[in-house]
Amino acid sequence: MLKIVVCVSGGGTNLQAIIDAVNSGTITNTEIAGVISNNRNAFALERAKQAGIPAVCVSPKDYINRDLFNEALLKTVNEMKPDLVVLAGFLVTIPVEMIKAYENRIINIHPSLIPSFCGVGYYGLKVHEGALERGVKISGATVHFVDDGTDTGPIILQKAVEVRRDDTPKALQQRIMEEAEWKILPHAIDMIANGKVQVKNGKVVITE
Ligand code: GAR
Repeated sequence: MLKIVVCVSGGGTNLQAIIDAVNSGTITNTEIAGVISNNRNAFALERAKQAGIPAVCVSPKDYINRDLFNEALLKTVNEMKPDLVVLAGFLVTIPVEMIKAYENRIINIHPSLIPSFCGVGYYGLKVHEGALERGVKISGATVHFVDDGTDTGPIILQKAVEVRRDDTPKALQQRIMEEAEWKILPHAIDMIANGKVQVKNGKVVITE
């Protein structure tokens, strides 16, 4: 059984997709051990509560400096003893100590086709604003392992979504969530839980 901890910051629709996929058997061999939010008001915390999953808030606002927050975050994760940490819209830079402690055991969902519209400054709606400004005809989402860069880790899954002529950042965001994120994030977790994902020479190898 793969024990996962899901880290969130906002609405938690990706968390909901994971919960639903575990309940429906789309994700097998997996237990959601806990949910961590950096934002006390995140609706994701409510979703966790409704699903009966232990949920805690670790907010930078409660610590006098970033090092103390980072320490508390890592301690909270460690206490839940996860095999895999899932960043599902977690808008916090992961401390290096945590990346080292969980090498190839942290995954992230990003709302574009990496390496486009990713890296420092590209999160949430900003990703879709960037895509529309550039005029790309295709965008999408990526699930990747987290390394010490920003959105630079080995890519596990990607799914493309067409950009429409009349798209707004919000409309594109919603369609990418529905058509890509809510599918590939649960799929990646299921593959990891069933031993199908390996990292070799910095790249992901999948055995179906
Ligand atoms: C999602 O679109 C996710 O891909 C994005 O934040 C949103 C969270 O939505 N993550 C990033 O931009 C990370 N760089 P949710 O809280 O409804 O799952």
